[in-house]
Amino acid sequence: MTQSILFVCLGNICRSPSAEAVLRAKARDRGLELTLDSAGTGDWHVGEPPYGPMQKAGAARGYDLSGLRARQVSVEDFYRFDLILAMDPSNYANLEALRPEDATARLEMFTAYLDEPGVSEVPDPYHTRDFDGALDLVERAAEGVLGKLG
Ligand code: 4NP
Repeated sequence: MTQSILFVCLGNICRSPSAEAVLRAKARDRGLELTLDSAGTGDWHVGEPPYGPMQKAGAARGYDLSGLRARQVSVEDFYRFDLILAMDPSNYANLEALRPEDATARLEMFTAYLDEPGVSEVPDPYHTRDFDGALDLVERAAEGVLGKLG
């Protein structure tokens, strides 16, 4: 049974903290107890709160990202979590390269939980500047994750 999920993007200041916050809110609404965390494949923003415009877009929908702090994904995460969800194919490839042979975590794409053929990534809003579009996708994929968990 999946009880712990780690969301991973590049910087851990936009997509993955948003996914963590959205899943936390939706799990709470359903009375589900899940261990949730997020991390980045890169280390540029370690220790920083989520990006201001991302926090603002999240807050407008009732998601409080302010207490989160960026960290870099580590090999240990492959033993600590049941499921690791990558935000885009590049994140996935970097995670695959890091994954130890005896990892206990499953590694999947977050977008695999969308019932939307052709959508294969959550586009990086740090570059697209489409924070609401990223949140829309994250919210739909989060519903898919919870639907799979039952
Ligand atoms: P994220 O967005 O991976 O969704 O957190 C990014 C944030 C920062 C950078 C890249 C992506 N950056 O290059 O600093």
